[in-house]
Amino acid sequence: MPYFLHDVTHELVRDLQRMIGIDCCPMSLKELEEQLAQIQSEAQSSFSQASSSSALYDQKVFFLGKNGTLTEIMKKMAGLTKEERPLFGKKVNEVKSALENVYSQCEDSLKQIELEQQLQKEELDLTLPSWPRELGHPHPIHKVTEEIFQILARLGYSLRTGPLIEKDHYNFEALNIPQDHPARDMQDTFFIDGNHVLRTHTSPIQIHSLEQETPPLRIIGTGAVFRCDSDISHLPHFHQIEGMCVDKKVSMADLKGTISFFVQEFFGPGLKTRFRPSFFPFTEPSAEVDCSCPICKGAGCSLCKNSGWIEIGGAGLINPKVFHAAHIPYPEWQGFAFGFGVERMAIIKYGIPDIRLFPENDLRFLRQFKK
Ligand code: PHE
Repeated sequence: MPYFLHDVTHELVRDLQRMIGIDCCPMSLKELEEQLAQIQSEAQSSFSQASSSSALYDQKVFFLGKNGTLTEIMKKMAGLTKEERPLFGKKVNEVKSALENVYSQCEDSLKQIELEQQLQKEELDLTLPSWPRELGHPHPIHKVTEEIFQILARLGYSLRTGPLIEKDHYNFEALNIPQDHPARDMQDTFFIDGNHVLRTHTSPIQIHSLEQETPPLRIIGTGAVFRCDSDISHLPHFHQIEGMCVDKKVSMADLKGTISFFVQEFFGPGLKTRFRPSFFPFTEPSAEVDCSCPICKGAGCSLCKNSGWIEIGGAGLINPKVFHAAHIPYPEWQGFAFGFGVERMAIIKYGIPDIRLFPENDLRFLRQFKK
């Protein structure tokens, strides 16, 4: 077919337009249809050749996106006649929905392949043994309290508890520690208000028992106590365990026999017990209780500071004033009481270097008490 210069120029201009996307010279319906068919076949082959769902999506954006090839060709409709425009618009829509179909088919099969690949990669071996599950166990303070209780239970003692916030009456007054008495300074107290304190010892449990129960009594009071005190051997929040025996005839010999039995059961056979004179307002006479050092058996070591003895608590015969305050007839009924610090008992028994390890809850420390 002969080429006229005019035709050649026309075609060149078109090609340039296509390359740079300017539309100064409108295309005919036929040309647009050809271009549309071209786009359709290019899109179909790129969709079916996409190697991953994300690459496929990029192709979708390229052909069907807001600024994609189909949108571009729609813009060229402006050069068509009024009658041609709806015809071409319809064709574009048909191509669009055909391409969307092709897209979703390709997407389905790529996603399926990708899922299978992922499952292969993440394959679970259900025959592998599972991680061992560590079981919990009681805290050493709980354990030691329980051990002490088990020993005293064999002597006929049974357990009592009381409130952590006590009335002044139970923590002090009824225990013969009146207002302004210097003995109040023995225990650095956390006051809640003028009439309530965080209990500074477990002795208030004795008073609750004396008020509520009828003798003879053999009770153990235990739980947390609080004092404004904190260093290597004192905690502001620690635990006590306390025994009280009320009966017809009770002497220091009964007290000493009870504690000697307890010491040998708890720390080990052969350990000796000794009493040193002391003062507690609620016992008379009163004693500090020592036992021969369970670590060196009395030979002298760093725990007992080479003395061979180690202090474990306080004890004494119940002061008649305590019986009077609780309306228990004295001397018809008499009694003794003794109290130990639970942390201190644990430190001595297990050779623990620092009392602050108990509330720290470091698992490396706590696991050593698993049995
Ligand atoms: N309650 C005393 C204290 O905390 C210990 C104690 C108990 C002393 C029983 C004598 C009798 O220090």
